[in-house]
Amino acid sequence: MVFLIVLGMNQKIVIINGPNLNLLGHREPDIYGDQNFESYLSQLQALYPNVALSFFQSNIEGEIIDQLQAVGFDCDGIILNAAAYTHTSVGIGDAVRAISTPVVEVHLSNTLSREEFRHHSFIAPHAKGVIIGFGLLSYELALRSFISE
Ligand code: DQA
Repeated sequence: MVFLIVLGMNQKIVIINGPNLNLLGHREPDIYGDQNFESYLSQLQALYPNVALSFFQSNIEGEIIDQLQAVGFDCDGIILNAAAYTHTSVGIGDAVRAISTPVVEVHLSNTLSREEFRHHSFIAPHAKGVIIGFGLLSYELALRSFISE
């Protein structure tokens, strides 16, 4: 029992958010909720004090690729919401494929119940798994998938 707890300590998990997710809390709250990501992140960190969580957001495709390359060989897991780039970016999909750290793709909304162009993901084939439709809880579920390993 003690052994299992020790195993879950001090994992390094990086959350990467893509375009327009800096507007969470203001942007289409009926779809994405009314909480901003920074305040959610503090709650998540408090819930999992033994996990070293870090966070990066960019509206720029190349910066997301740079970040995946920067952290993708020496952290324990990446939680990636590439937002609109999910549906368009061969480059981000290739970066996820190129790195050694496992990536869990997340979405706040259930992309499969929305417009058809949101049904395709260039990331999902290279991800460890995909969690969609649970709002901000999607991030916690992804985090739990790493710490329960
Ligand atoms: C999103 C879904 C995407 O289709 C959309 O472009 C986003 C947010 C989500 O978390 O539900 O920006 O990734």
